[in-house]
Amino acid sequence: MANEKLKNYKYDKDALKNKTIFITGATDGIGRVLAIQSAKLGAKVVIHGRNKKKLEVVYDEIIVDPKCRKPVIAMLDYETATSETYSSLSESIMNDFKCIDGLIHCAGILGDRSSIEQYDPGLWQKVMHVNLTAPFVLTQALMPSLKLSKHPSVIFTSSGVSQIGKAFWGAYCVSKFGTEALSQILAQELTHTSFRVNCINPGAVKTKMRLAAYPAENRDKLKLPEEILSPYIFLMDDESLGITNKCYDAQ
Ligand SMILES: NC(=O)c1ccc[n+]([C@@H]2O[C@H](COP(=O)([O-])OP(=O)(O)OC[C@H]3O[C@@H](n4cnc5c(N)ncnc54)[C@H](OP(=O)(O)O)[C@@H]3O)[C@@H](O)[C@H]2O)c1
Repeated sequence: MANEKLKNYKYDKDALKNKTIFITGATDGIGRVLAIQSAKLGAKVVIHGRNKKKLEVVYDEIIVDPKCRKPVIAMLDYETATSETYSSLSESIMNDFKCIDGLIHCAGILGDRSSIEQYDPGLWQKVMHVNLTAPFVLTQALMPSLKLSKHPSVIFTSSGVSQIGKAFWGAYCVSKFGTEALSQILAQELTHTSFRVNCINPGAVKTKMRLAAYPAENRDKLKLPEEILSPYIFLMDDESLGITNKCYDAQ
């Protein structure tokens, strides 16, 4: 039923009107395109990233369209953020907006494509931290604002390697298993609320991460981020009310 709804879903031009949506990793790849498109569909977007210049470029790309609401920049490096950083972000979001309707996790890193035997433990820790621990802490920090929304929606971005282990995908693969578990646990804990908590596996998408993972592949056949946005928009739109604890393939 939920799959059928998504299959038939076509978003209209104000699908996200009156929504405030926090998007992580909005400086590149899927998160960047999703932030721009969400703003075009009427959302006030909070664009998160670690690089001020890149955040400003995305900000400018959004405001060039006079119909878009001005975005807000949330700069926070997952590698270096402390509990104080998250507290102050949480406070400023509460002061500026009170309510957040959506949180979309797109930020992530690939780490190394090497064997477990050779995987550098320091890099392992970094990948687990950026891909799993930091999204958990951010979700926790934004819960008070999400709870003030009538229909909050949280989306985690998983991967094709998040359900079956794959050789040489090391920490990335393990972090994505964890991402799906985190999403399922949160969804279950919030069953008796209006929260939707879901996962999306984007499939192969033409971004810098994909290039790093498959440097030799023919990139012409890859989908662009613009082509895989539908499930993200669907899960932010009120069309998906009641749908929770699912994992969708975007392709
Ligand atoms: N592309 C694919 O084929 C594919 C397939 C399956 C799953 N995914 C998942 O989709 C999501 C988006 O991937 P993508 O392909 O769009 O990757 P991308 O183009 O490499 O973008 C990753 C984003 O994460 C941000 N980021 C990285 N480290 C960060 C840190 N320490 N603190 C804050 N932000 C940080 C990046 O910031 P900078 O701009 O500063 O680097 C960038 O905005 C990821 O979760 C990825 O695992 C992608």
